[in-house]
Amino acid sequence: RVVVMDFGGQYNQLIARRIRDLGVFSELIPHSTGAEELREMAPKGIVFSGGPNSVYANGSPKCDPAIFELGIPIFGICYGMQMISAHYGGVVDRAHKREYGKAEVELVSDSPLYNGMSRNQLVWMSHSDVVISPPEGFQVDGKTHSAPVAAMSDPVRKVYAVQFHPEVRHTEGGNEMIRRFLYDVCGCEGNWSMETFIDDTVAELKRQIGDKRVLCALSGGVDSSVVAALIHRAIGDQLTCMFVDHGLLRKGEADSVVRTFGDHFQMNLVKVDAQERFLSKLSGVSDPEQKRKIIGNEFIRVFEEEAEKLGKHHFLGQGTLYTDIVESGTDTAQTIKSHHNVGGLPEDMEMDLVEPVNTLFKDEVRKVGEELGLPKEIVWRQPFPGPGLGIRVIGEVTEEKLTIVRESDAILRDEIAKAGLDSEIWQYFTALPDFKSVGVMGDSRTYAYTVGIRAVTSIDGMTADWSRIPYDVLEAISNRIINEVDGVNRVVYDITSKPPATIEWE
Ligand code: XMP
Repeated sequence: RVVVMDFGGQYNQLIARRIRDLGVFSELIPHSTGAEELREMAPKGIVFSGGPNSVYANGSPKCDPAIFELGIPIFGICYGMQMISAHYGGVVDRAHKREYGKAEVELVSDSPLYNGMSRNQLVWMSHSDVVISPPEGFQVDGKTHSAPVAAMSDPVRKVYAVQFHPEVRHTEGGNEMIRRFLYDVCGCEGNWSMETFIDDTVAELKRQIGDKRVLCALSGGVDSSVVAALIHRAIGDQLTCMFVDHGLLRKGEADSVVRTFGDHFQMNLVKVDAQERFLSKLSGVSDPEQKRKIIGNEFIRVFEEEAEKLGKHHFLGQGTLYTDIVESGTDTAQTIKSHHNVGGLPEDMEMDLVEPVNTLFKDEVRKVGEELGLPKEIVWRQPFPGPGLGIRVIGEVTEEKLTIVRESDAILRDEIAKAGLDSEIWQYFTALPDFKSVGVMGDSRTYAYTVGIRAVTSIDGMTADWSRIPYDVLEAISNRIINEVDGVNRVVYDITSKPPATIEWE
């Protein structure tokens, strides 16, 4: 593996990502990681990332200087390059002009990273400090208009550095430069893949868990499903999965979980039917925040009660992702953000965590899921909120309204799939506003509910745009909902982006 030391730059995750895409396992580690710890990790290469600081500023982050003595190849990017320069006695200065965006680098050496490449390279710059004279023993590999040392290296010590960002796509030769560092300088073999990940993880899980028992909360979402399948592959019957049906799931979802995990994988699956419990707690409550709290708390209670019945489990399996950790800052990676698939699990349960996918990105988790043989409907499931349909029925939640949302949502999903739009639209569902309006059906007046269609494109759910579903598809959806779902006489389409609206209606 190759580690990326995190000095706070905005592209750091991307560096790890590019390295993995080249078949070499990589992860971001805190810049405070000491030389001894690194020696034990024995990476084949170290990347110093970019960062917002100036190397001469008070308190700017520095790596343990002993790292330079480990003999492991180093690749410094942006701030990483300035730190290398400062360490070996080069001169770093404020640039006369901040350089931001595209720039042209002229390659002036034949160092292994650039040898044979076109001499003029389009690169992405984002910095205000520059190295103006390289340290002793370093050669200048490239320059730009405003950076006399845009790339430098010391092939003897195997230290390479660039001022620009090879990890972003705008740097056209960037991928090739990273590839050469990995393969030619570090001697990596590029054999990391999802299969190796599965084999390594299964071996590690066996070692970590031994003969103890593990409990997993299954939500039917991709993260918890992949975690359950991985742990099951490692320890088989020592794993128990608990699936709480809170009655706020979409049509067919509970069956799909039971079919997949109980029937197909033959796991110890405990299905808890708690529909009535949740519905009675929600009865008479219409405030959205209060509904969320009730659902979250009730989930914890049910989980605790049922776990108690199952006897002692030493470990709790969780679907924490790499992004969940990175978002909370790698320097504080220990205090993992309390991110849960369903409602949130108890914090004070005396169980150790097993988090086998916490080095993976979402799309990598999906690849692992496919590799493990999980069905498409689970691997490609769209995001679904923990409180489920409870926040898609606006106002008080009743059995009647849940049925309307469930049935109309199933029609929407069916028509979107038929139109081949399911991989294009990030999330789509129906919501039921809490009002009725007048209609006419077969010569008689109706007074019934309105169903709202929500469909958005998004990358991460933080911002979103409403999806331009073709009119004929919308028409088919509307017709079917009116004809097939009792209690509905009107269908509307939500054409608001986020912000100002949120994706969910509550
Ligand atoms: P909003 O409605 O905030 O939703 O724009 C953004 C994304 O988050 C999902 N969402 C949740 N997911 N627990 C979850 O696990 C929740 O309480 C929750 N609320 C919203 C929502 O479906 C969308 O994908």
